[in-house]
Amino acid sequence: MTEKKHRKIVVSGIRPTGNLHLGNYFGAVRSFVKMQSEYQCYFFIADLHSLTTHPTPENLQSGVKQVLAEYLACGIDPEQATIFIQSDVPEVVELYTLLNMNAYLGELERTTSFKEKARQNPDNVNAGLLTYPVLMASDIIIHKANFVPVGKDQQQNLEMARKFATRFNHMYGHRLFPLPKPFSFDGKDMIKVPGLDGSGKMGKSEGNGIFLVEEAGSIRKKVMRAVTDSGPTMMNQQKPEPIRNLFTLMGIVSSPETVAFFEDQYNSCQIRYGDMKKQLAEDIISFTEPIREKILAIRNDEAYLSRVAREGADKARESAARTLSEVKKLIGLNRLW
Ligand code: TRP
Repeated sequence: MTEKKHRKIVVSGIRPTGNLHLGNYFGAVRSFVKMQSEYQCYFFIADLHSLTTHPTPENLQSGVKQVLAEYLACGIDPEQATIFIQSDVPEVVELYTLLNMNAYLGELERTTSFKEKARQNPDNVNAGLLTYPVLMASDIIIHKANFVPVGKDQQQNLEMARKFATRFNHMYGHRLFPLPKPFSFDGKDMIKVPGLDGSGKMGKSEGNGIFLVEEAGSIRKKVMRAVTDSGPTMMNQQKPEPIRNLFTLMGIVSSPETVAFFEDQYNSCQIRYGDMKKQLAEDIISFTEPIREKILAIRNDEAYLSRVAREGADKARESAARTLSEVKKLIGLNRLW
C-alpha cells in the first residue's frame, strides 16, 4: 500500500440532514469505506452549508451528531480517514472570503441548484445560497483534493470548484490547486437502490427510504406496503418495474439462493408476493440491525464522538492552514514589514 502522504486526496462533504437510508449506504457510504484505505480521505459534515435553510440550534446539533454516529457505525474509520465538522475549520471560511472576490454574480446566479432553491423558497434567497458553490469549492481545494465522490446533483458545483481553482491558478501564475475531478464509483460498486413505491430510486426527498437506524417493526410495515401487482399470468413474463424493484432490493440484501427461489416462483407463476415481502423484510432487518445497534451505541457515547470530532478537526486544520498560508502569500496578504 502506498504511504499515506503520497496517496491521492479525496474530499467529500455530507449535509447533516439526518438519517442515512439503504440508498445512501449502497450508493455512497460503502464506497467511502473502501476509499479510506486507498486514498487520503477527508470526510466532513457540512454544517455551515446547512445554515442556508435556517435550522434551529437544537436541530443543527442533533443532525451533526446523528450523521457523525451513522458514518462511524457504517465503518468510516477515524484512524484512516480524516472525519471532521466543517465549522471546526475556520480556515475554510477564510478561503471562502478570498475566493468570493473572484466569483462573479452572473455565474453564481446561473447555477442550477441556486435557481431551483430560489424558485422553491422565494422568501429565503440569501447570499449564502448564492455563494454555496464558493464555500463548497473552498472545502475541496483547501485540501488540494484530486477527487470528489459526489452524485449527479453535485456535478455542477464541482465544475464551479474547478473553475474557481483554475481562475486562482491563472491569476497568480501558480499551479497551487490541482483540479478536483469527480470520482465515480460506477460499475459494480455503485448500486442504485430502488424505492418501495413502485418506481424510481430510494431517496430522502422521495419519502420512500428505509433507514439504517429504523426499528424492525417499522421496516416490516414499510416492506409489506410495497407496491406490487396481481401477479404474472404467463411463464417467464417480463417483470414490471415495481416487481423488478423488489427483486433488485432482494439482490442487494438476500442470499443468491433466496433470490433464485423467488425468481423461479415468479417465472412459474406461483409467486406469492406476501411471502416474498416477508422474506425481504427479514433480510433487510438482518442487514440493518447490527448497524442500528452500533449507531445507537455510538450516539450515546458523547465522549467518543467529541474526541473523534476534535482529532479530525486538528488534522483538517493542519492541512487547511498550510494551503491558506500559501494562498495568502500569493495574494499579498502576508505582511513583509
Ligand atoms: N453540497 C453537497 C451536498 O449537498 C455537500 C458538500 C458541501 C460537499 N461541501 C462539499 C460535497 C465538498 C463534496 C465536497 O451533498
